[in-house]
Amino acid sequence: MNNIAILGACWGDEGKGHITHNFSKNYDWIVRFNGGANAGHTIYRDGVKYVHNLMPSFDWRSSRPKAFLGSGMVIDLEQLHKETSLLNKVNTDIPSRIYVDLDAFIVLPEHKEEDKKLNGHIGSTNRGIGPAYKAKIGRTGIRIRDVIKSRSSDFSYFFIENMKTMGVHFVSLLDLKKEFMSSDILYEGAQGVMLDINHGIYPYVSSSESTIAGVYSAGFHFAAPNKVYGVAKVYTTKVGEGPFPTEISGNAAEELRKRGNEFGATTGRPRRVGWIDLPALDYACQKGGIDSLIITKFDILNNIDRVNMCVAYDKRPTASSDFFEAKPQYITVPGWQNAKEKNQLSDFINMVEDCTKCPVDYISCGTSESDIIKL
Ligand code: IMP
Ligand code: MG
Repeated sequence: MNNIAILGACWGDEGKGHITHNFSKNYDWIVRFNGGANAGHTIYRDGVKYVHNLMPSFDWRSSRPKAFLGSGMVIDLEQLHKETSLLNKVNTDIPSRIYVDLDAFIVLPEHKEEDKKLNGHIGSTNRGIGPAYKAKIGRTGIRIRDVIKSRSSDFSYFFIENMKTMGVHFVSLLDLKKEFMSSDILYEGAQGVMLDINHGIYPYVSSSESTIAGVYSAGFHFAAPNKVYGVAKVYTTKVGEGPFPTEISGNAAEELRKRGNEFGATTGRPRRVGWIDLPALDYACQKGGIDSLIITKFDILNNIDRVNMCVAYDKRPTASSDFFEAKPQYITVPGWQNAKEKNQLSDFINMVEDCTKCPVDYISCGTSESDIIKL
């Protein structure tokens, strides 16, 4: 049993989908455990860009991985039906590799309406995530198993029936326990620790558990991850409102946003951008249960003489409230011409490891598999 988890170590959009997709052929299961269609996991297959909102980032070209959508998720059935239909068009064998936990809750149209009425409250993606989790916690939510039991004639039941016809399995977690216990599992987080409902910068958070706790909440105690990776970018981005200590503005921000193509995969919104924030990363590793780091998008900062890094605040953050007034302190380290030359990155990587006490195990410097480099 070689189980790992891949979590976002910042505010989401760190490149988890890209890493998961390329690792997936070495695993039997790719399990999403939190969030919903607020996530936008960008992956490249044979040079074509795909965005998965609900579907785990498994690479269906390999016969090995299957996909599991866990009970900690809130599922917009219309969106899942859309993503399944797309894969079904690619190859009609793919949907039978998709499994959905009957205990996952559904996102209803009124949840999305409620989000929209709040008019971008805290910068929400308006995918009905907050209202769906509110219903769940308030004990008025609807699970997939409730939809199936009621056999209602509405669209939710239609989407489930149609996905079943394509081959998708709707299951109870424990029915697969034996298989999971003898499998290699990759748990794919959505969003990031700084957006976690318990440990992120409340109230500027999403409504699910994006730390390692989310894996256990979804019931996978019997198949715990042996290693937890946190993914961070070589710089930082954030979508939506709330504190962002290392944010930059003006021309420098425009330039970085353009270089990194930092526009939301789900909403198309321009992302806020800033320098790498090591105090925040240190906080996220501790609160998220992260053992090792994977740093992505090194190629975006190719050919910059010196790179900025925030190595401390005026006070070390020990609670999410500490991020509101934080005053970042920067240093610069020598940049790199070609991120593929590992030795050019050593000043940057040493500083990350010093400040977070977490080893950097992999870096990524492009969108193909060969751009993910083990250190
Ligand atoms: P919600 O989850 O749509 O309600 O959004 C709450 C906050 O989390 C907003 O600031 C969103 O921009 C942010 N957020 C939610 N999902 C993602 C994601 O997958 N990537 C980046 N930001 C996200
Ligand atoms: Mg994203």
